[in-house]
Amino acid sequence: MIILDGKKTSGEIKDEIAFSVKEIVSNGLRPPHLAAVIVGEDGASLTYVGSKVRACKRVGFDSTLIKLSEKISESELLLKVKELNENDNIDGYIVQLPLPSHIDTQKILMAVDPDKDVDGFHPTNFGKMALNLPTFISATPYGIIELLDRYNVETSGKHTVVIGRSDIVGRPISILMSRKSKVGNSTVTLAHSRTKNIKELTLQADIIISALGVPNFVTEDMVKDGVVIVDVGITRVKNDSKKGYEIVGDVDYVNVSKKASFITPVPGGVGPMTIAMLLKNTLQAKL
Ligand code: GUN
Repeated sequence: MIILDGKKTSGEIKDEIAFSVKEIVSNGLRPPHLAAVIVGEDGASLTYVGSKVRACKRVGFDSTLIKLSEKISESELLLKVKELNENDNIDGYIVQLPLPSHIDTQKILMAVDPDKDVDGFHPTNFGKMALNLPTFISATPYGIIELLDRYNVETSGKHTVVIGRSDIVGRPISILMSRKSKVGNSTVTLAHSRTKNIKELTLQADIIISALGVPNFVTEDMVKDGVVIVDVGITRVKNDSKKGYEIVGDVDYVNVSKKASFITPVPGGVGPMTIAMLLKNTLQAKL
């Protein structure tokens, strides 16, 4: 069994990005600049955005964190987005999700300039991704592809079962895994909450990508020997630690790893890759 080490791999990618930034700066240009908009005080979102801003520092990017009140109106947020679109000092930006329920998320995401949409959430970029055209691929699916690529995991002709159909992970990774490209060429089944007999499907899977957010959903009896496991779950489960919680994936790691050929740990698998790929998109936005 080989651990798909996202922590180590993301460190390598960040080193490569830092090298490119040094080249950019030595050519007399300013470094890439990522901005992140966060609305409200959601603890998990603040943690994720904090990690993104710290990662910018590590690779030499400029970064701006824009914290807005939970009570901001949709039109005020749209104005902020317009401002960021027009700010030539910012190469790319993200609007951290989820947004408060009084704001129409799609309306906000559609207002982001596709050329600055380093999250790859705009329909233009999502469409280009689906058509295999150069674009910003959303950080989490991009991170999964990159991890499989760097570990030379064979995907061609394999059966991939994706669990979860979210706009930002399940649906895009199901498209990417079937694309005609080095990581891709697999036959994809997209399972979700209405899927019947999910175990029948996972038992046929060569590759399982779980993005459900339900701890221990994928158990040993659901997988075949030699399976490749990508666990995208990040659920906070309360415990007695100093933090008061631990991060738990969708997969019963201890038992499933005994049957797997490759597996991502949680934490330290897909999570750190996501941040590295956001930086990679921001570098691309600058170039
Ligand atoms: N919330 C959870 N994941 C993401 C992400 O990748 N980007 C943004 N903007 N919000 C998120």
